[in-house]
Amino acid sequence: EIYFAGLSGAVPPLPMTAAGLEDLARTTLSPEAFGYIAGSASTERTAAANVAAFGRHALVPRMLRGTAAADARDLSVEVLGTRLAAPVLTAPVGVLELVHPEAELAVGEVAAELGIGSVLSTAASTPIERVGAVSGENWWFQLYWPSDDEVAESLVCRATAAGAKAIVLTADTPGMGWRPRDLELGHLPFLQGKGIANYLSDPVFRSRLAVAPEESVEAMQMAVLTWVSMFGNHSIRTSDVARLREWTDLPIAVKGIVHPDDARAVVDAGASGVVVSNHGGRQVDGAIAALDALGPVAAAVGERADVLLDSGIRCGADIVTALALGADAVLYGRPWVYGLGLAGKDGVRHALRVLLADLDVTLGLAGFASVAELDASVLGG
Ligand code: FNR
Repeated sequence: EIYFAGLSGAVPPLPMTAAGLEDLARTTLSPEAFGYIAGSASTERTAAANVAAFGRHALVPRMLRGTAAADARDLSVEVLGTRLAAPVLTAPVGVLELVHPEAELAVGEVAAELGIGSVLSTAASTPIERVGAVSGENWWFQLYWPSDDEVAESLVCRATAAGAKAIVLTADTPGMGWRPRDLELGHLPFLQGKGIANYLSDPVFRSRLAVAPEESVEAMQMAVLTWVSMFGNHSIRTSDVARLREWTDLPIAVKGIVHPDDARAVVDAGASGVVVSNHGGRQVDGAIAALDALGPVAAAVGERADVLLDSGIRCGADIVTALALGADAVLYGRPWVYGLGLAGKDGVRHALRVLLADLDVTLGLAGFASVAELDASVLGG
């Protein structure tokens, strides 16, 4: 469909690559919005390493294998019991109101339309129930576990009731990373009360406030401070996954795992998935590139859990590489967020369709009829 549109000579409304979307966003979005999306921790060398790591693996396409025609190729997978049309979910990204007013609703709707998954952030600008109502069947909820356990439980129960199909506990953010770009712009979204919607709509959180936040500017400031003080939580341990297990029957994945021992431990504690990720380089600068951590983590968990990867996915070949190295699916991050900033829901749709088309073509040209057939042999083994 994208190619046929090109036949008429029509120029696409937005760039066709992740790099093109980022370039256009740099000159189009406000410096605060662009800095929030693009920024990573400290020197940003882990963010750069995430992308560079894919360049150290090369696909070795196979020829004349009589594989399926384009319309018969099967990109579908099942992860954490969720059936997806392609091995892609949108990564959880908080505070999308900074990027575009359509925010999380646009992402949930488009992912559902394309049959892929979406992961809704705790720090969303829209309450869980509203996003769940438009996100179809295949959405998961990401948990930043606040220091008040009853608030954490309430968020998980709300997500479960709203129809989430899995809970993704983000383990790499017991506190915010050191983010120079936000600091230089004087732009600290959390301290400014952005991304607080799920807390303001939460009855347990509200019970912690002396005055309803709607009463006055001061009451809202108090609510923001209460929220910020809850956000940091260094006390969570691997064994807490078992407590999460008591709050919901949904499958649990733990995001931010890069050490095989941590992967084994969270699976022992009841997780049925791990997301190999360094948060796009936004937390520990100098950390290992996510792709370099994937093989050892996948080997450590074996068949006991599903393995997802994010941090550095920018094109179809990156997804093929990640799957060849042991991932069952990937989370896609920054490129669609630029799309959202550039054109709202249409921009998200564009960024995701371009990725899926690239994956489809790459898979077929590499000699595979389906994602299920992919293994390390595509890397020349
Ligand atoms: C994130 N990420 C993130 N992760 C999470 O668990 N909860 C969140 O609220 C957010 N928020 C967020 C905001 C922004 C602007 C970015 C760029 C990222 C991390 C995200 O889920 C994912 O791990 C990274 O985006 C992957 O890196 P790349 O591929 O986008 O560079």
